[in-house]
Amino acid sequence: MVETEVLQPDAAGIARAGQILRAGGLVSFPTETVYGLGADASNDHAVARIFEAKGRPRFNPLIVHLPDVAAVARYARLEGAAERLADAFWPGPLTLVLPLREGGGLSPLVSAGLPTVAVRVPDHALARALLAAADRPVAAPSANPSGRISPTEAGHVISGLGGRIEAVLDGGPCAVGVESTIVGFDPVPVLLRPGGLPVEAIESCLGAALVHHAPDAAINAPGQLASHYAPEAPLRLNAATANPGERLLGFGPVDGAVLNLSPSGDMVEAAANLFHHLHALDAGGAAPIAVSPIPDTGLGRAINDRLRRAAAPRG
Ligand code: TXA
Ligand code: MG
Repeated sequence: MVETEVLQPDAAGIARAGQILRAGGLVSFPTETVYGLGADASNDHAVARIFEAKGRPRFNPLIVHLPDVAAVARYARLEGAAERLADAFWPGPLTLVLPLREGGGLSPLVSAGLPTVAVRVPDHALARALLAAADRPVAAPSANPSGRISPTEAGHVISGLGGRIEAVLDGGPCAVGVESTIVGFDPVPVLLRPGGLPVEAIESCLGAALVHHAPDAAINAPGQLASHYAPEAPLRLNAATANPGERLLGFGPVDGAVLNLSPSGDMVEAAANLFHHLHALDAGGAAPIAVSPIPDTGLGRAINDRLRRAAAPRG
């Protein structure tokens, strides 16, 4: 057990967080998507501690967070369509899986021995200040115990990982609320995970449709395990109304919802509320949860992807 420090989002807190990362410690920090569990990506021991703290299978590779395209180019090859996407959407909720550059200095644990590495330039002032203070590439999965709901506020991080990590930098709630969209290259652009950047925006930048990864062909994205992001209570999707004994997680103007992702049916608001509401329902008991239908467009794709995983049979 370690005492987990809650650091304030000021100069002293950022400096302390940077110092802990440089010394090989674990710091959870906010990004625009969800809170990450950061470690120095060039330090094998620090990266190994991420897997240990999360209880995460070793084969599941991590995303490296970097301040800009120039930093990305030190660790990965950024060319062609990938470069166009980077120019259009970084900083922002997009992760690119790129060919790893040999000799860049990343711990091989980060990419789990794959010839590729996932990289992203986050768009959050505190995340960016922390990257500057640490002056290191920062490996960061979502800051939840493996298989549990991703955290969108510092309190979620403390309840899941308190006592297992050195610090959390408290930046309040995350604006986007679902993880980044992940695109790989096969060599054509492939959607590996829907997320905070709508697929439609990516396709309009590329001028072509993205190849979609079938959910079961997920071996290339080892994080895409079927049961993921799961609350304790069973979850039923596309529920027009709640059955007796169920708690309704609403979307749009529905009656009888215990919580509503967005009463007005706004997808951005729904994404920002998704994990927050699932955490709240989890804390509120074990009664089954019914979820209103959510349109499968824009951010709705990422929301439905996370809900399907939460509803999947538990392993
Ligand atoms: O928004 C986000 O992406 C958050 C914040 C903290 O940045 N991070 C996040 O990380 O969601 P994580 O570890 O929970 O999800 C990373 C996903 C996993 O599904 C992993 O398998 C996949 O990225 N991934 C990482 N490296 C990969 C690679 N080289 N090839 C294919 N998939 C990869
Ligand atoms: Mg995760």
